[in-house]
Amino acid sequence: MISERLKKVAPSITLAIDAKAKQMKKDGIDIIGFGAGEPDFNTPENIKEAGIKAIKDNQTRYTPASGMIELKTAVVEKFKKDNNLDYKPSDIIISCGAKHSLFNIFMAVLNPGDEVIIFSPYWVSYEEQVKIADGIPVFVELDESRNFEIDFDLLNKKITKKTKAMIINSPSNPTGTIFSQQTLQKLAEIALKNNILIISDEIYEKLIYNGKKHVSIASLSKEVKAKTVVVNGVSKTYAMTGWRIGYIAAEDKEIISAIDNLQSHSTSNPTTPAQIAAIEALKTPESIIQAMVDEFDKRRKHILKRVRDINGLTAVEPEGAFYIFPNFSSFIGKTIKGKTINGSLDLAEVLLNEAKVAVVPGIAFGTDKHFRLSYATSMANIDKGLDRIAEILK
Ligand SMILES: Cc1ncc(COP(=O)(O)O)c(C=O)c1O
Repeated sequence: MISERLKKVAPSITLAIDAKAKQMKKDGIDIIGFGAGEPDFNTPENIKEAGIKAIKDNQTRYTPASGMIELKTAVVEKFKKDNNLDYKPSDIIISCGAKHSLFNIFMAVLNPGDEVIIFSPYWVSYEEQVKIADGIPVFVELDESRNFEIDFDLLNKKITKKTKAMIINSPSNPTGTIFSQQTLQKLAEIALKNNILIISDEIYEKLIYNGKKHVSIASLSKEVKAKTVVVNGVSKTYAMTGWRIGYIAAEDKEIISAIDNLQSHSTSNPTTPAQIAAIEALKTPESIIQAMVDEFDKRRKHILKRVRDINGLTAVEPEGAFYIFPNFSSFIGKTIKGKTINGSLDLAEVLLNEAKVAVVPGIAFGTDKHFRLSYATSMANIDKGLDRIAEILK
């Protein structure tokens, strides 16, 4: 009954562990959760008010399928202000979250057998979305010993005549690392030389620490901009994950019009009041965002120290997003509470059953010797959870 297309898509391996953690919580067990892929802050008041006002003002009808002109204009202004990029409203498509934006891009550009370069560790939906669009994910492992930097020799070896696109996610989920301008420059040169479309997922651009500055690869030159589709959204920066507003910017008119067409026959416009709230979000004073970033930064420093204090765990310092990605390879082959640890699912299971701590196994991100902790949770939870992890790994 099920289509060949969807048979190729792996069921979420993390879902079982997530469901189990939720059930344990329901049963009254005191679980500390590090699984969250979303800020634990509330949507700022000004944004909520804008959404409420939109509904009361009866702004509840269809908008153009690709989004309201007012929001596209606000997005254009954001690109100019934050990224020094000049786009026109007609270069923008508003979708139902950045995940939807990415899905639309793959559907618009991939033919069966087209290859897409994905740097690993990677956000799991890249792989599955590429497969749904009949593309082939080609993984290029990042060098953990050099803070998850790109091995350019390896990248060049993975490029073939079928390479259609490459995905860049800086700051990264799950590693929190940021590609330097030099790295972006080299990537851009490779993309231009090989005629590869750059898909730049910049959803974590404002959650960035250590005084680092976000650089959009599209801003490197006119040529690079023409070959890049930038993906961004309001979910993470403005604590708006449930509002479902993401967007893309691309100079390539064919891509924009193909996505407009696809969206007009699939979802139509993203929810109208959410679009209006997103206009307000893009006007939010930097101080409100900075307060959230400062809090994440405190937790980031603390969790990094706590993880590194545990014998046998190592962790690259995350400089963006709200995740840390510890490496537990020294525990592989060992037995904890009667369970042999052969990979990240075993470790996640032991942590959940024995330490009552929920983490995301690295296998979800293409590596079996890591696990992901989200620090979008309170300092008290971070301490309690890390105490438990330290105790069980002793
Ligand atoms: C790397 C990355 N890109 C895109 C998204 C999707 O964000 P949205 O909630 O806007 O669909 C996420 C959310 O987890 C993410 O981690």
